[in-house]
Amino acid sequence: MADNATDACDVKSMDDIMALCKRRGFIYQASEIYGGVNGFWDYGPLGSQLKKNLRDAWWNDVVMLGCGGKPGPDGKPVRIVPVDTCIIQNPKVWEASGHVGGFNDPMVDCRETKSRYRADHLKCLGEKGDTEGQIYAYIENDDASYASARKKLDRYKKRALSDAEIDTCALTELGNAELAITVGPDAKEVGTLTPPRAFNLMFKTVLGATGDAEIDKAYLRPETAQGIFINFKNVVDTTRVGVPFGIAQTGKAFRNEVTPRNFTFRSREFEQMEIEFFCHPDEAKAWYEFWRDWRMAWWESMGLKGENLILREHDRDELAHYAKEGAGTSDIEYRFPFTAPGYGELEGIADRTNFDLKQHQEHSKKKMEYHDTTRGELLPNGQPKGEWYLPHVIEPSAGLDRGVLAVLCEAFTPDPERPSGVVMKLHPRLSPIKAGVFPLVKKDGMPEVAEKLRAELHQRFGRLGAIEFDEKQSIGKRYARMDEAGCPFCFTIDGDTMTDQTVTVRDRDTLSQERMGLDKVGDFLAEKLGV
Ligand code: GAP
Repeated sequence: MADNATDACDVKSMDDIMALCKRRGFIYQASEIYGGVNGFWDYGPLGSQLKKNLRDAWWNDVVMLGCGGKPGPDGKPVRIVPVDTCIIQNPKVWEASGHVGGFNDPMVDCRETKSRYRADHLKCLGEKGDTEGQIYAYIENDDASYASARKKLDRYKKRALSDAEIDTCALTELGNAELAITVGPDAKEVGTLTPPRAFNLMFKTVLGATGDAEIDKAYLRPETAQGIFINFKNVVDTTRVGVPFGIAQTGKAFRNEVTPRNFTFRSREFEQMEIEFFCHPDEAKAWYEFWRDWRMAWWESMGLKGENLILREHDRDELAHYAKEGAGTSDIEYRFPFTAPGYGELEGIADRTNFDLKQHQEHSKKKMEYHDTTRGELLPNGQPKGEWYLPHVIEPSAGLDRGVLAVLCEAFTPDPERPSGVVMKLHPRLSPIKAGVFPLVKKDGMPEVAEKLRAELHQRFGRLGAIEFDEKQSIGKRYARMDEAGCPFCFTIDGDTMTDQTVTVRDRDTLSQERMGLDKVGDFLAEKLGV
């Protein structure tokens, strides 16, 4: 299932991670009993709670606490309000945003193997001294594909190529050759790749049961951002917020990815957590830097640390259509097992300038300008005259499913010393099971005491995750299950509990076992969960 999985000794095995996800109910293939459907994934009981915990952490820290209470570059609290907008909007939204005209991936088909590749994922194995313009494609970051392309290159150098093998198409994304001899990464023959063609990534649908496919067509949103932009005026007019402020939204987005791959990393249905932060154009740079750094710190606080997480400023040629000259764009990237030693994008932080508001203003003919009563020259009464402007927007746009995948990959820790052979070191805040409560044996009143403790903990922490009661199998097997589920603490009721009212607490990560009073368990857990 995992294309490109790299199983180098210091890289975790993607196959093992996926197997655990299936075995423990984190993530299943969508429509599995019917053979699956490419690019779609379902979350099981543990996975959906983990995903909810990550979404809630984002919502709490971003929306409720306004960047965790950290003051903005203006020294004031950061103000963020939420919205929840529709997946289907008027198709004109996507014309204005540029998605209808420009949301395309150039794709290359292999005539021999029928595989399809993103043109920007294929690399040229050109060599100085080879026949002018030769191109041998291989998949970036894939050693096997590189080695196979190398072999083909050597083979073809030994004989003359026929005209039929020489494509006159120039794969400009691969190189600037006018005569290109293309070799698909998995093909045996040469000249098998078509020129790149653009595929629009938006899913189309038809409105109304008897709708006309062309007249009544609509699109599933490819990003949640546009629902925010088109409601900018509504939010300003109906609340007390004023620029600078942000609007946040979480929700599903859909992209008909041509090559969905790498587990949930590139899916066709996925969830985003997006903020559009509106500010005065003069303050855009300061807010961009603020958001970039705060978002990086936030991912670290979710347990993604060290050299697996990087902040990468975009090169000029990577800038999106809305990024103005010199405007900042950076990605927070994680080193997934399938990208290692490279990195994959978790979140993009972009200065979108006033591109989107301007586009919607032009297309809808509705004024999107903001009247800032705190600016402008001072009137004789000492009050500012006010200034009309289109705010600039800083957009921290994160993928929730990619976040969950990164957290799962980071947590996955092989440990041959444990019966499970692996432990999921999830951050306690994210763990879907917050605690396990186990009677050592199923007698002598232990199950009753354990059940009472479980009920108390459930009452206090149940909104954050499960409190698991388990009395089946040996205690070692129960710990092993909890290790694989990423449960940070297990409390065991044993013979001593019945006499001295103490329990054993087992720490998932250190494996330490300490005794504490039954009445101290709740506060201990609260402190560890940070609530
Ligand atoms: N509004 C800006 C925007 O949508 P993007 O870089 O296309 O920007 C933002 O997407 C985030 O959404 C990405 O950083 C990634 O985490 C997530 N994402 C994008 N496409 C995805 C896909 N096919 N599958 C899973 N997550 C995806």
